[in-house]
Amino acid sequence: MTAEVGKAPATALADFFHAHPDRHYVMFGGKGGLGKTTFSAATGYWLAKQGKRVLVFSVDPQASLSDIFQTDIFGKGPVKVMDNLWAQEIDADRHIREYQDEVRAKILDMYGLEEPEIEDYIAAASAEPAMEESAIFDSVVDILSEGDYDYYIYDLVPLGHALYYLSMAKVYDEWIGKITHLREEMREYEEVAARMRRQKVVAEDEILGELQYIRQRINAASRILTDRDRTAFFFVVVPEQMILIDTRKAAEMFARFDVPVAGYIVNRVLPESLDSEGVPAYLRSRIVMQRGQLAEIERELGRDVRAHVPELERDVTGLEMIERVATLMYGEVPR
Ligand SMILES: Nc1ncnc2c1ncn2[C@@H]1O[C@H](COP(=O)(O)OP(=O)(O)OP(=O)(O)O)[C@@H](O)[C@H]1O
Ligand SMILES: [Mg+2]
Repeated sequence: MTAEVGKAPATALADFFHAHPDRHYVMFGGKGGLGKTTFSAATGYWLAKQGKRVLVFSVDPQASLSDIFQTDIFGKGPVKVMDNLWAQEIDADRHIREYQDEVRAKILDMYGLEEPEIEDYIAAASAEPAMEESAIFDSVVDILSEGDYDYYIYDLVPLGHALYYLSMAKVYDEWIGKITHLREEMREYEEVAARMRRQKVVAEDEILGELQYIRQRINAASRILTDRDRTAFFFVVVPEQMILIDTRKAAEMFARFDVPVAGYIVNRVLPESLDSEGVPAYLRSRIVMQRGQLAEIERELGRDVRAHVPELERDVTGLEMIERVATLMYGEVPR
């Protein structure tokens, strides 16, 4: 296939990885359904074929890595899907439950309480959405800090949600605020206060220790996610006006969180060659529409566009299709 005007060179993305060998944390972000999981899998495939040990993971309850690799990996830890390539789908709900139980146990333990009212407070605190996010975030940190892979590819949930994860430091602060508030409310109980006095020193120490631990984890994680030398965040877009408008907004938000945007990948591009093949009018007008949007993308993002991936005739599932996408993204895939 000859390069079309305004299209990224076939090796732009491969060149990026070769030029930045320390960018070990790779993320694909974008609106729902644009191709994040597809590109995560294809990138994992390509890197694994280069001889790198790669983990592709997600916390998405929709279990889409299981679909694309055609293997049930949900909640099973890292599962090897081919030489050098592992996939992992975190069972977020289970982590949240475990985390809530742990926090409840800690609070009960710290204050030595069993009264139903206190139980209610604790239930309320552990039902906080902030705590759910914290639990998920915690498991991501575990994966990033405990594994022994050359590359970690984080298959993100759709944009809005991903932004939420990235604002975790704030979320943690809120959660810590809630716990502090909870402690203050508990002081209102006379009898409780008496017990707390007895246990005060121990409790304060434990809380402080816990908060410091959480802080360290936040810092470790946000250092990784915003590390310009080690992280590459790619936006997935399709040549449609609304998507481009949303992506622009999101890019500004990500910039505010200091996420290093490594480039854009344009998906579902209709081949120009179709235009001359007597295609139905609706398809021709889609091609014309895409042409306009591609020109817009070229004007606005220019060299930040690392790859154009064509619309394929079927969904991307199974290693054969993954390899095909990898070839379209990166050029030749080593055998
Ligand atoms: N270039 C393409 N040609 C044909 N089908 C594609 C292409 N890219 C992606 N798809 C298909 O589109 C669907 C959505 O892709 P994918 O699951 O990768 O998106 P996603 O961004 O991860 O979605 P979500 O936001 O739900 O996680 C899948 O069925 C995938 O196989
Ligand atoms: Mg997905």
